[in-house]
Amino acid sequence: MQAQTVTATPPGWQGAPEVTVLADIFEDDVQVAVWDRPSPVGQDVVALACEQRLAVKSWLDITQLEATLLRFLPHATYAPLRADLFLLADMVACLFGVDGVGLRVTALRKPMCPRFHVDRIPVRMLCTYGGAGSQWLPSPRVSDQLLVPGCEQSALYQQQHVEQLEAGQVALFKGETWRDNPGAGVVHRSPPMSPGQQRLLVTLDI
Ligand SMILES: [Fe+2]
Repeated sequence: MQAQTVTATPPGWQGAPEVTVLADIFEDDVQVAVWDRPSPVGQDVVALACEQRLAVKSWLDITQLEATLLRFLPHATYAPLRADLFLLADMVACLFGVDGVGLRVTALRKPMCPRFHVDRIPVRMLCTYGGAGSQWLPSPRVSDQLLVPGCEQSALYQQQHVEQLEAGQVALFKGETWRDNPGAGVVHRSPPMSPGQQRLLVTLDI
């Protein structure tokens, strides 16, 4: 059965085609804020990233964004990706009042984190440019046992409750250390992938 796309309004979710919706993450009852937009990065970029097995992991100083992105992603084909990363990193810096962000750009041919988990960070911005987006479970759908290490997770959630981001959408996921508030973290995982599928995932942490 296919996971649901983010079209209804699951608990803890706030989404809109306007970028300003991302500021809703500061609301206590919002766990996931989604800027619903088409992907600004074409399949040619995703294909090149997968071919090059692109894996960038770096702390970005906001004052050096343009030069740093050019250093990591010099290929001319990556121009739309660089432009979008500039936009997203700048957005994170403005939204959370930070002068640097932790960037990861990863080309994936198999799920990176296939088990449901929470991230031990305050908040993460994520965007999948090609392929299936990340999956998450609204907190009322998370059983007490789901995050027990080594448990058989498939018996502990219902597929119909699994929400899924779409390519291009920009999401903010609260993490476990959001405002010293354990339990606020979004339970999420990489989407299952079929052979031959390609994903290009970007995450930005504060
Ligand atoms: Fe994660």
